[in-house]
Amino acid sequence: MDGAQLVAVRLNINGAVRTAHVAASMTLAEVLRGRLGLTGTKIACNRGACSACTVWLDSMPICACMMLAVDVGTRSVTTIEGLAQGETLHPVQQAFIDHDALQCGFCTPGMIMSCAALLKRNPEPNAEDVRAAISGTIVVAEPIHTSSPRRLPQPKRKGDERGETSKSPHGGLSLGYR
Ligand code: FES
Repeated sequence: MDGAQLVAVRLNINGAVRTAHVAASMTLAEVLRGRLGLTGTKIACNRGACSACTVWLDSMPICACMMLAVDVGTRSVTTIEGLAQGETLHPVQQAFIDHDALQCGFCTPGMIMSCAALLKRNPEPNAEDVRAAISGTIVVAEPIHTSSPRRLPQPKRKGDERGETSKSPHGGLSLGYR
């Protein structure tokens, strides 16, 4: 970035106009995080493959790592920080908390933005709709279930009685649940 000429961009983000001085090569994700302090948007692959950086551009979920900030223009950007209404979380944010869906948290903002966008265009999605909406999300962490009411009891396996953990079929540590 040293020596790069900076240009001023005005971005309509979460309902407010923000100005940032950016290099023309900076992506929207970089500007959100590095210039505007909106670090809820994550950057993982930085090449449009994982959806960790999902934000809305005029209500459409996009990968912010694949759009230059200078190309946003007058379109509105919504990030995970703009989803809640004051102190009230968006229902999808609340559902992720209620159902222990956070995992390590890195893919969570992007997944929430994708799910919330789905609900905006289809208030009654079926399971297939939800799968399709988040199909671009790559999840690395394995969920650790602690209090999900939908958790099914699992048969005890050898070693469980001794309080040992065991390797899950997915390669991560299983805390007694599959
Ligand atoms: S960081 Fe943008 S898609 Fe992976």
